[in-house]
This record gives sequence, structure tokens and C-alpha cells, in this order.
Amino acid sequence: MYNTKARSRKLYDGPYRSPNRAYMKAMGLSDSDLQRPMVGVGVAWSEAGPCNLHTMDLGRKAKEGVYYNKGTPRMFSTPLVIDGVAMGYEGMKYSLVSREIIANTVEMTINAHAYDAFVGISGCDKTTPAMLMAAARLNIPSIVLYGGSNSNGYLNGKELTMEDVFEAVGKFAGKRISAEELKELENNAIPGIGTCAGLFTANTMGTMAEALGMALPGSSAPPAVEGVKYDYAYQSGKTVMQLLENGIKPRDIMTYDAFENAITTLMAMGGSTNVVMHLIAIAHEAGIKLTLNDFDRISSKVPEIANMRPGGAHTMEDLFRVGGVPLVIKKLLDSKLIHGNALTVTGESVSKNMAKMKIKEQKNDVVSDTVKPYHNRGGIRILKGSLAPDGAVIKVAAAKITKLKGPAVVFDSEEDAFKGVTNGNVKSGDVVVIRYEGPKGGPGMREMLSVTAAIIGKELGTSVAMVTDGRFSGATRGLMIGHVTPEAYVGGPLAVVKNRDIISIDCDKGTLDILISKDELDSRMSSWKQPRPKHPTGLLAQYAKLVSSASEGAILSP
Ligand code: FES
Repeated sequence: MYNTKARSRKLYDGPYRSPNRAYMKAMGLSDSDLQRPMVGVGVAWSEAGPCNLHTMDLGRKAKEGVYYNKGTPRMFSTPLVIDGVAMGYEGMKYSLVSREIIANTVEMTINAHAYDAFVGISGCDKTTPAMLMAAARLNIPSIVLYGGSNSNGYLNGKELTMEDVFEAVGKFAGKRISAEELKELENNAIPGIGTCAGLFTANTMGTMAEALGMALPGSSAPPAVEGVKYDYAYQSGKTVMQLLENGIKPRDIMTYDAFENAITTLMAMGGSTNVVMHLIAIAHEAGIKLTLNDFDRISSKVPEIANMRPGGAHTMEDLFRVGGVPLVIKKLLDSKLIHGNALTVTGESVSKNMAKMKIKEQKNDVVSDTVKPYHNRGGIRILKGSLAPDGAVIKVAAAKITKLKGPAVVFDSEEDAFKGVTNGNVKSGDVVVIRYEGPKGGPGMREMLSVTAAIIGKELGTSVAMVTDGRFSGATRGLMIGHVTPEAYVGGPLAVVKNRDIISIDCDKGTLDILISKDELDSRMSSWKQPRPKHPTGLLAQYAKLVSSASEGAILSP
């Protein structure tokens, strides 16, 4: 039988722990409260943006569920970065860094106070992978609840997401819309709290928490304002106590099969490219080695069955209205693409969860099925070649073209690239190269959404490609290839690309090449010198020292 209080007894039992109990009693806890298992409820909360504004309320509901099932909850908060706000600016360098800081904050708080179990409540992009990484690392009974997206925005009857506002900036720069039209979009794109509405990184990661079995089935798709989200919070609190009672730990759930289920769901939904890196990092914490080859293999056999923005037409709210993530998982399960016997936080397998949910499908154009998919292959592809020997990632689901051979237009930072695009220095047929934006070189691997949105806004989205060692927002669309490894800062071939070199991209063949001879490439590499670090001190310098390659999940390796 699992000892449900094994950790917390070290701090709260016996005469020598009288001071500890005194601290607890100062907060209103009784002796009987202190006899219960202690459960840390970790909430990523901030007023920096709408994504995580409501997570404390969800945390309070989760606490009620913990208490109902005879646990003593203690809530704590973690810092976070709101990606959409930090985007297109130096601050975005802290975004990926925040994933590690949140995971470390959870580890620190849970271990310092000897909590027996963990509930993680997330929202904006990095918070969900961070909560999952912490759960895998701590390996105490845990559950994750994703806080949910914002509801759809509307203007003149048209559904809006933040992607429309980012792209409108490019249209404004190209004098295709007026300042008034831009303002109207700005005023209507986000009606309230929650994360960005399309299947961008936050919503994809919420989906992954469910597909991995670490969140309650059905809990991810409800938008932040839906009452049912608060019931899921309550149920998550109750459920973590059952996990504790039964001794079910994250590594019992996050097995290799569970990661295959998550990758399959990612491919079927055409989610964010960032998730490739996050799943590798979460798996690493769970002691499982995932590689880009796993994604490539699964991408080639899983069709894309969801019609989600940015590649398709719908938002997370639309998916919620037709059945949510369970609808997608059920279709994959029925097609034998999912491991149905994988364990989940309910204590039951995926198959049993689906059978219990009795999903009734209504006619819709949000989720198709595997015999009539939107695309025959998965939404994300891995490319390799002379420009990316260790791999690169593209969300092919969001690209109208899959091949391009064209001259490079090279920039050494996101800011230079943004200026280059908006000033008209990029023409149809060009391949925009943005380098020194990788995990070490950035440092922090910024997302190039401002540049990609400017390209779309200039109506170059179907005739220009981008290749970068940085990342992309989940809202990015077009032939945009990121996570190029090795990154330029550590001497990857991207570092020696010159303007007008011909770059060849072929997503169908999975290749990314620079069309110069091997001798020329070697000769350029031998004279390349690593640039001086952009941030020699502080957090970014510490991060740059420890971070690994994007193809290894950009984990910190002491
Ligand atoms: Fe938080 Fe988009 S800014 S999810």
C-alpha cells in the first residue's frame, strides 16, 4: 500500500516538528488538517496578460477538491512570461527560459515543503510543459489542468484570433489597411481572459497534457470563462487524492506509449512546432529518450484530421463545442493509432476513459476522420540536410506551399529581419534566413511571429520561405522552418550562409539544403568565428551556458 503521507510526515509529525505546526496554525490549519497528506497546488499566475489571469480561481477550486478527498492543499504561484506580449522584442528571450524557471520553482516549492502530491495549473505557452516537466521530475502523484483559451473574438461577423492582429501589422506596414482598421482589430480580437484562441502553442500543450494522460479527459478544450472549467479544477483536486491513494505517479502515466499518443495527437491536430521541443524535454524528465525521428516516423503514418487555426479555420472554442480533445483521441483510437491501454490520471486506460465518455459526434467541419482527413500526413514534419544536419521543424499544416528553391536573404537578428521585410527588401521567391536566435545564440530562442506575420501581411506568405534557428509562434503560418540544428552560434551551417546562396526546401522529401559544394561549405566553416555573447551576465548568460540543442528539447544540462 502506498504511504500517502510519507513526505510530509518529515515536517509535521512528532515533538521536534512543533515549530512547523505552529507556522501552519498561524494560517488557520488544525491538528487534523496537519494529519492529512499535504498537496501543493502550483499556479502559474500573472497580470502580464489575459492567459493566466484566472488561474488562482482555478487553483482555489482545485483546493476544494483536494480538501473534499481528505488532503490539505497549499497553493503557491510561479512566475511566467506572456509570449504574445513579449513577442518581437528582447523580452521574448526570457520565454523559453521561463519554462525551466517554472519547473524549477515547482520542484523547489514541493521539495522544500515536503508536499505529498502536486496539482499544476497552467495557461500561457511555457507553463504547461513546465508543469509536466516538474511532475515528471518530482514523480509524486500529480495532475495538470490547463487554464483554457480565450473565447472567439468577432468583428463584422468574422471570427478573430490574435493571429489576425499580428498579421494586420504587416498589412498596415504594406499600406493595405488603415490605422482605424488596425485599431478595430486590436479592440475586438480578444474578448476576455484565457490563452490565444487558435491551435497555437498554449492550446496545443493543453491538448498534450490530456493526450499524455496527465490531465482529466475533456478538461483542456473548454475556454477559460466556461463554468465547466471550474468543475474540472475541482475534479482535478479530487483526482490527485485518488492518485495518491492508489500510488499512481507521473512516470507510471508518462510512458513511451503515452508520448507516442501525444505525438500522434499533435500530428492529427496540426499543432505548434514548439511542442516537438517541449515533448522531448518532458520525456527527458520522465527518463524517456524521444528524438526527432519519433516525430518523423509518426508524422508519416498519422493523417491530419483537425481543421484548426492557423492552418485551418477553427479555434479551441469551436473544438470544445463539438466534443473537445476526446473527440480527436476517440477517432485516433478507433483507427488504432493510439495506445488504448495507456494509463491516465483517472486511474483508467485511454480506452476505458473514452468508453465512459460516450462521445456523440455531431455534424461539424472542425474534426474529420482518418478515412477522410484534411491532409494525408501529420501536420508537423522534420527536415534534414546540409543546412540542418541535426534537423529542423516545420508546421506543414499551416503552409500553402511545401517546396521552394530560392536565394537567401540573411539577417543576424529578428529585429533586422522585421525591418528588412517591412522595408521591402524581401521579394517573392526569397528565403529569409534569421540566425543567432537559437537557444544559446539568442539566447532563449525567440519566436519570429512578428517577422512571419509581416511576411503574410505583405502577401508574400505563399512565395517566401523562412529558415531560422529560432522558434515560431504556434500562430505562424507559411513555409516557415525553425529549430534548425546545430544552431548558428555553435557553428551550424546556418552561420555561413551568404546573401544569394540558393536554399532548397522540400517538405515532401524532408530536406533542407544549401546548394553550395561541400568544399565551399567546409572552407567557410573553417574561417567562421563564434560571435561574442549578446548577454555576458545575468539570467540569459546562465541559460546560454547550460542550454542544450533544440533537437534535444533545449533542456538545461548541468
Ligand atoms: Fe499567452 Fe498567446 S500570449 S497563449
